[in-house]
Amino acid sequence: MWRGVIHQYREFLPVTERTPVITLHEGNTPVIRADRLCDAPDTRIELFLKYEGVNPTGSFKDRGMTVAVSKALEEGATAVICASTGNTSASAAAYAARAGCRAIVVVPKGSVALGKLSQAIMHGAMLIQLEGNFDKALEIVKEASEKFPVALVNSINPFRIEGQKTAAFEVCDQLGGSPDFVFIPVGNAGNISAYWKGFREYREARQVSTLPRMIGWQAEGAAPLVLGRVVEHPETVASAIRIGNPASWRLALAAIEESQGEIGIVSDAEILNAYRQVAQLEGVYCEPASAAAVAGLIKYCRQGKIPHGARVVCILTGHGLKDPETALTLAPPLQAVEANLEAVVQAMGLG
Ligand code: F0G
Repeated sequence: MWRGVIHQYREFLPVTERTPVITLHEGNTPVIRADRLCDAPDTRIELFLKYEGVNPTGSFKDRGMTVAVSKALEEGATAVICASTGNTSASAAAYAARAGCRAIVVVPKGSVALGKLSQAIMHGAMLIQLEGNFDKALEIVKEASEKFPVALVNSINPFRIEGQKTAAFEVCDQLGGSPDFVFIPVGNAGNISAYWKGFREYREARQVSTLPRMIGWQAEGAAPLVLGRVVEHPETVASAIRIGNPASWRLALAAIEESQGEIGIVSDAEILNAYRQVAQLEGVYCEPASAAAVAGLIKYCRQGKIPHGARVVCILTGHGLKDPETALTLAPPLQAVEANLEAVVQAMGLG
């Protein structure tokens, strides 16, 4: 039985026998071969989608949360706090519920996808909506955690990064080696930093002999790392990465530089197109933020920037069901027909 990332990768994680392990058996997510998405006549790449949306709360955050909440509990915490664009709050709420401690989640008002909000509520978190964006929320919870006895479980908590690096181990274990390229969306920049740490540690432990290039993607209206400056009012359809002042700024740039990678921009139109393509060509439903990486991949492939035969992994960070509202905006208005064969045949375009 798969028992979660702490059990699986214990020797790489900061836990001891005294750490109470709070797990929902996260991890062990599939790498799915994808042959249609980047099908170009002259360049064949070996593309895999790492489908992190099938983690217990529907995003990669669970990997970091199992470690952060377990360590918080070990250190005697009775409450955890985070700022979030949605997924961190859903994950913190679930793991806190399992640990029997309180969760306080601070989110930007009106810009969290519905599925994520419903998770925080169902798991019994205290939900505080802020008249401000994610960056402001993070500033506030940081200060709150310094002044009050609540453990911060955002990715500036190093235990979060420790847990999230297990995704890199898994990719290597599943592929039987390191990929050549990793495409990944970047918001607060913790995840790209965690993957890079994971790949490096796996090579140091001689589990793999090479390292991938890390190719990060930001949305056009929320691209501080690409622009090299804070974005005061970040905007993008991909609400999960609507972030203007990423906490792991320096670590992310180091990951890109050390891996001889790159960080690029995709527009909202490219994100929505990729969101639909990966669902319709590969049968894999991810949320818009994840589709930013897919959009980047499609762009890269078109530009012929991936060598023939390269092994590429694209990280699909969250499940599409998190944000059904965005999906529905892409469909024509849904209409009903009369309940008889003729009406259905006509609707099929065959009448
Ligand atoms: N994809 C999804 C689905 C996310 O929820 C996030 C971040 C990212 C990508 C970007 O990862 O921040 O490590 O660079 N979500 C955070 C949250 C900010 O609050 O749920 P990152």
